[in-house]
Amino acid sequence: MSDPALGRLAVVGLGPGDEAWRTPEATARLASATDLVGYGPYLRQIGEIGDHQTSHPFPNRKEAVRAAFALDLAASGRDVAIVSSGDPGIFAMATAVVEEMHRENASGRWARVSVTVVPGVTAATAAAARIGAPLGHDLCLISLSDVLKPWDVIERRIEAAASADFVIGLYNPLSRHRPWQLQRALDLIGHHRSADTPVVEAHNVGRTGESIRTLTLGQVNPASVDMRTLLIVGSSTTQQFTDEAGRSWVYTPRSYAGKLPSSED
Ligand SMILES: C[S@@+](CC[C@H](N)C(=O)[O-])C[C@H]1O[C@@H](n2cnc3c(N)ncnc32)[C@H](O)[C@@H]1O
Repeated sequence: MSDPALGRLAVVGLGPGDEAWRTPEATARLASATDLVGYGPYLRQIGEIGDHQTSHPFPNRKEAVRAAFALDLAASGRDVAIVSSGDPGIFAMATAVVEEMHRENASGRWARVSVTVVPGVTAATAAAARIGAPLGHDLCLISLSDVLKPWDVIERRIEAAASADFVIGLYNPLSRHRPWQLQRALDLIGHHRSADTPVVEAHNVGRTGESIRTLTLGQVNPASVDMRTLLIVGSSTTQQFTDEAGRSWVYTPRSYAGKLPSSED
């Protein structure tokens, strides 16, 4: 029989911001943890912590160091939660943790840590919920950050997603260090979509200062976008309308012309 686990590590998705959008499992693991590890602003997103808990804030980046720290802490017998905003598996900490586990698999360094990934509501589905159903059909989620992958890979993926007519969710659209990439991405998409394609510009979804705007591809202005913005670029079939109350709705139909919706779906 193998030894029982010494400690445990939960990689917890906090959701986009609002506590109502945090799963009960995430809330329970955050409450029971002895140690909370994460990028400072995400730890602050948790709010008040208990007297039995220690917070370990980390600077942005250094995900591998943060993951190894959390695994070591759990291996010492602690009950650790390492946090990400949104879903931890989407451009976030779950990958770093599993990658570190893989790297040390042969050494057995963390063999007695019980690891769980606790999913969360990702920014794209949160933004989509605010405006209707823009992700209602096939979609691609692409991060425009070239910190961890080369820009030419990003361009190839945008080109492929745009030419295949996917709805495209753009994460990490722009930062002070990456000022031109968003416009370049929009230009690439524009080779395959008309300028009146609906675009959802979602800023701080579920947080103070939330704003959700419906624009067209031709109207998107990178000057109004930052790292707290998520963009959803519609496919050629995505629709937009404004209801009688003046509320904008965006949706991507599930059925194509000539295909009847199935009663089973
Ligand atoms: C490093 S990624 C992390 C994504 C996160 N794991 C998730 O599932 O939402 C950070 C990017 O996610 C998007 N994002 C995260 N939370 C957001 C929110 N509340 N409102 C709008 N965009 C958000 C932004 O594009 C931001 O630059």
